Amino acid sequence: MGKELIIVLDFGGQYKQLIARRVRECNVYCEIHPNTLSLEKIQAMSPKGIILTGGPNSVFAEDSPTCSRELFEMGIPVLGICYGSQLMSYRLGGVVETAPSSEYGHTEVILDASDSLLFGDVAPVTTCWMSHTDYIARVPEGFRVTAHTDKCPVAALEDASRRLYAVQFHPEVLHTAEGTKMLQHFVKDICGCCGDWQMSSFVEETIRDLREKIGDDHVLLGLSGGVDSTVTAALLSRAIGDQLTCVFVDHGLMRKNEGDEVERTFGPDSDFQLNFVRVNAQNRFYRRLTGQTEPETKRKIIGNEFVEVFGDEARKHKGKIRYIAQGTIYPDVVESGDGKKSDVIKSHHNVGGLPIELVRELGFEETPIEPLRMLFKDEVRQVGRELGIPRELVYRQPFPGPGLAVRIVGEITPEKVRIVQEADYIFREELHLAGIDENLGQYFAALSNMHSVGVMGDHRTYGLAIVLRAVLTSDFMTAEAAEIPWATLQKCMRRIINEVDGVNRVLYDLTSKPPGTIELE
Ligand code: XMP
Repeated sequence: MGKELIIVLDFGGQYKQLIARRVRECNVYCEIHPNTLSLEKIQAMSPKGIILTGGPNSVFAEDSPTCSRELFEMGIPVLGICYGSQLMSYRLGGVVETAPSSEYGHTEVILDASDSLLFGDVAPVTTCWMSHTDYIARVPEGFRVTAHTDKCPVAALEDASRRLYAVQFHPEVLHTAEGTKMLQHFVKDICGCCGDWQMSSFVEETIRDLREKIGDDHVLLGLSGGVDSTVTAALLSRAIGDQLTCVFVDHGLMRKNEGDEVERTFGPDSDFQLNFVRVNAQNRFYRRLTGQTEPETKRKIIGNEFVEVFGDEARKHKGKIRYIAQGTIYPDVVESGDGKKSDVIKSHHNVGGLPIELVRELGFEETPIEPLRMLFKDEVRQVGRELGIPRELVYRQPFPGPGLAVRIVGEITPEKVRIVQEADYIFREELHLAGIDENLGQYFAALSNMHSVGVMGDHRTYGLAIVLRAVLTSDFMTAEAAEIPWATLQKCMRRIINEVDGVNRVLYDLTSKPPGTIELE
């Protein structure tokens, strides 16, 4: 890791990950930690600065998260945001009160101090994003007010001599027009970071650390073909070469040609030096899925079968493998553990896709190797590019673990898999040719189990209906159907009906999420 570190202390704010991302965009490494992190631990990490996040609580409520006064006396610059600003004021003797009404949304903030290092070249009146009910009524001794709004007497405050800064608004969200600038001023001008954290240095350092940790031992990784496991494989291969064994379980529910692409990237003819095992388990999965129509049952069968197949493969390496690797990324760590270590939580159930009991039985280490655990998705993609993984693999859209199974309504058969693969391939190809694929969150063809009557040439047909789905979404929690140009949809319809045997109808799904989901099952 780079030498310069900024710590974000989490007080329950929904934007904590955004704060860390913005700091990293200043080329300064940043980590999120729970607000209970001890002063000794903070000191041992020697951060260049600390940021206190927002949060839903009220500083004077009994069990609200807090911090000790000494946090502000360590000589490390601190920036309090929203709840963090109130906490800083409250702990240092200022007065926080509850306003009769909340201040929420875009707000004009008027700067009161043109010489504040935090604001630097920010405009004297600047739009910021506010979301609070409590407010700072009086600043602590030694502090001055550096900004206010119509409703809020203290929108920003500071004690520059102690390098303590606080803002009531959220500089990390893009609605705050000059927020990134403010964070940049904090990190560079106040904390004195020079900003030398780069993906290329991350890659070099991680490779060095992996070599040191793993030594002559061997590592096993379950490779799904998704971005995270693909980049993990590439990184480990650069570090330890053929001491890495990757097992790619082809469950027969991948998109068209995908299994072969994964094999081309990592197999014996690729640039990566590793032991690549492709387990062609298609028939095993299809057999288990025969007659199953319930979405959750299908998911469970696939999950269990995967563990079985991967487990069988792992057994072959008993006595040789010491570590299991896993493509965990930072949002998994932060979300799953709320600051606790994800391996503690996950190893409860499995390590890198293997049940903990099996891991113990085979004598593998229980803590997985997770080289990407501190990276955000787009950083993972940058690492992938640094390592020379093809663009199509690094920028591929998210694909559900159970694969096409959640895109085939009702029973899964090899024939239906073929139909959905072909239709999906055509849809993706046409969206790419039309130049609209990059703006979409997710887009695919799914197969309904609706049979309908059609006519082709002089024959009546009784075929299946393909459902095309394309959604706009950034967080995958909500989504809207995308407006695909009519001519493109028509072309897809014609091609699918002409080229894919068994399909005689094409529908476009207009449903948003909620009330729908992105996938059909
Ligand atoms: P839904 O359909 O729930 O999808 O709106 C939200 C996102 O999650 C993906 N998804 C899954 N991913 N296993 C996964 O690994 C699953 O069972 C699964 N179901 C949905 C979906 O593709 C979308 O990106």
